Amino acid sequence: MYRLVVMISGGGSNLQAFIDKLHKRVAGIEIALVVSNVAGVRGLERAQAAGIPTAVFPLADYPLRADRDRAMADAISARGVDLVVMAGYMAIVTPLFLERFPDRVINIHPALLPSFPGADGIGDALRYGVKVTGVTVHLVEEGMDTGPVIAQRPVPVRDDDDHDRLAERIHAAEHQLYPRIIELFAKGKVTLPARGSRVVLVDDSEPTEIVPQFF
Ligand code: GRF
Repeated sequence: MYRLVVMISGGGSNLQAFIDKLHKRVAGIEIALVVSNVAGVRGLERAQAAGIPTAVFPLADYPLRADRDRAMADAISARGVDLVVMAGYMAIVTPLFLERFPDRVINIHPALLPSFPGADGIGDALRYGVKVTGVTVHLVEEGMDTGPVIAQRPVPVRDDDDHDRLAERIHAAEHQLYPRIIELFAKGKVTLPARGSRVVLVDDSEPTEIVPQFF
């Protein structure tokens, strides 16, 4: 089994894409645990509905951020995880957390990094007036949205876009790209940067096992 932990803070639409497209369907992938730093969010309900264990780590329960991250890392390690997948996890993790999972923590950002990092990549791209934005899957390192890029997909900005319309197409792109990249990780098709390099190699030449969803 290739075991994922998914870290969320909210709605969990990316988590739902993993449940629908990957979980126990593709390349021996299993979501072993869903971790949230916020209680009561929709993403936790999605996990529970799929029979996936959940754990909640609100900062209010821990005097220090490092204590929270240590508890979270312990819970994740206990599941024997292969890949830590941040999907709408809206907090920065401490170096202590990342050291526990070297080169095994990935994130998705709703813009073409290094453009528009931060909490509102969609709104910032819209306000700037770019004609093309997109989504980025990247390795997580210290700092916000700064790790080496794994994959990107462009999303055109239309003249009549508002935040909601653009967000809908950004999220659709995320739900395509992120499960595919996780599938490629599970199949050993992602080569991490050599020392002194930031270039991640992704061999996307094989057909995907992901079955298209028709609703
Ligand atoms: C996504 O847009 C992702 O790029 C960003 O947070 C959002 C999470 O959405 N990091 P969801 O919780 O998966 O619906």
